[in-house]
Amino acid sequence: KEVVLSGIRPTGFLHLGNYFGAVNNWVQMQHEFDCYFCVVDWHSLTTHPDTKELKHNVLRLLSELIASGLDPEKCVLFIQSDVPEIAELYLYLNMMAYKGELEKTTTFKDKVRANPENVNAGLLTYPVLQSADILIHRALKVPVGKDQEQHLEMCRNFAERFNHRYGEVFPIPQAFNYGNDLIKIMSLDGNGKMSKSENHMNTLYLADDNDLIRKKIMKAKTDSGPTTPNAEKPDYIENLFGLMHLVSEKQVIEKFEADFNNCVIRYGDMKKQLAEDMVQFMAPIRDKAFAIQNDHAYLSGIIKAGAEKARASAAATLLEVRKAVGVNYI
Ligand code: TYM
Repeated sequence: KEVVLSGIRPTGFLHLGNYFGAVNNWVQMQHEFDCYFCVVDWHSLTTHPDTKELKHNVLRLLSELIASGLDPEKCVLFIQSDVPEIAELYLYLNMMAYKGELEKTTTFKDKVRANPENVNAGLLTYPVLQSADILIHRALKVPVGKDQEQHLEMCRNFAERFNHRYGEVFPIPQAFNYGNDLIKIMSLDGNGKMSKSENHMNTLYLADDNDLIRKKIMKAKTDSGPTTPNAEKPDYIENLFGLMHLVSEKQVIEKFEADFNNCVIRYGDMKKQLAEDMVQFMAPIRDKAFAIQNDHAYLSGIIKAGAEKARASAAATLLEVRKAVGVNYI
């Protein structure tokens, strides 16, 4: 079976972008592939989170992933810092990464712009650590959202350079989505992608209560509607239809599509429908996550078992890597 790896940062609760861009692919893939899914706590250290909050976020995120349908019996669910082998591979891969290409990474440039006082080396080498996450399990498929495309491209480059220098150790991984194209869920105000860091009213979290879900969706950006039949949809309207495709019934979507094409669409009605369908979809996941979050014995069991399996796979790769590089002396 092909190996799959993906990761998510514990920098806040799970939101719809994470869910539809990545996690719902993970849930399907665990039945088909040899899957490793990782809460990447080291990656979140670039922004120096509060220690207590980090711990809480990791456990909360783990609960949300399980509530979303990840089954620790079917996939390896683990925490990055439990696998020190990743850090060693990160060191070797750093020698394959050029300063210039790291500085040109879009996510790095965005972070520098947003927070010029905190341009640390961890931030610069973020894509290298991400590559180590992937390559340590020799993963072939990496289910991620569209915003990770460039990081994946860099991972392929580092792997190819390593193989070229030291011999074929790593298969070359690919970004993956069941729908072929990688997904980008937009922010509800229509500006850029939905993310953890921006205004909370524009991001739908799986932890939001029903009324908050309704309130956020009703506030989502729309306009006065199309004036010519079969017009092209503005991207913020396309996004609402996209969300509807994920949670609503086919007939309902077709009705609003037809209304749009005939210039009689009432966005208020459409958002009401979307809000109710979203509540139906999200409420059970949210409630399950809350229940799991407080079951520390259950969570510790999963963390321990996940760490053991992830380390076994990581150690096997690292042995090959050390041999290839020549840092094995006995
Ligand atoms: P992170 O934690 O920002 O996001 C986790 C996953 O959610 C996807 N995603 C989205 N997809 C569609 N629309 C959106 N608005 C949206 N927002 C987030 C992301 O693409 C991602 O798949 N660098 C990674 C974490 C990481 C990783 C890895 C991923 C570390 N090591 C190894 C894959 C393999 C990140 O920051 O994701």
